[in-house]
Amino acid sequence: MSALIAPSILTADFGRLAEQVREAEAGGCDLWHMDVMDGHFVPPLSFGREVIAAVRAASDGRFIEAHLMVAKPAEQFADIAGAGAQRLIFHYEAVGSVEAAREHIAAARALQCQAGIAINPETPVTAIAPLLADLDEVTVMLIRPGWGGQAMRPDLLTKVSELAARIQAEGISLAIEVDGGVKAHNAHSCTAAGATILVAGSAVFNAQQTPQDALAELRAALG
Ligand code: DX5
Ligand code: ZN
Repeated sequence: MSALIAPSILTADFGRLAEQVREAEAGGCDLWHMDVMDGHFVPPLSFGREVIAAVRAASDGRFIEAHLMVAKPAEQFADIAGAGAQRLIFHYEAVGSVEAAREHIAAARALQCQAGIAINPETPVTAIAPLLADLDEVTVMLIRPGWGGQAMRPDLLTKVSELAARIQAEGISLAIEVDGGVKAHNAHSCTAAGATILVAGSAVFNAQQTPQDALAELRAALG
């Protein structure tokens, strides 16, 4: 089954970021997944609006989503949207309740952005079930968030299947994204479970391959 491939630049060469963006786009990436980390929600710091704006400027216009691994996502929304992100993905664990999540969805929409929610490995799909009809996208973390290059936990794909079954039963149209450890050898298991967007960080930006070759390998693995 086919899916969209969303490279994350976390392991890219930031010294030649614009070139890396153009290489991945030449390789046929579908959209950009930008990992914003604040040193609170997750231990590391990554980047914010300046780097998103740099990717926006280097890109030929591909869709940009921002994955906000931050403790107070709403405080970042305007900056991140202003830098060019078109979908704002916040963590359910950061907002803590269905009611607060609804407020964040409304805030994203008020900025003309799509709204997505991410769930950590320990958060069950049932926690966000009441929100599915209001969302454009759900990100299922297949690793502990905060670092690229970790191994995927395949047991977490059952959450993807559960989500896919729920949205089908409820007739909801929703993108299901998997994030963490996606590689050519496990990409098919993700789409088989129901994922429609695959985030690929170190699978695309690594020392062994060009982004073009890496994307061709990923695409081939999806069949
Ligand atoms: C980690 C980020 C991921 C990461 C993926 O917290 O959310 O998007 O960049 O990197 P890989 O594909 O290397 O696991
Ligand atoms: Zn991410």
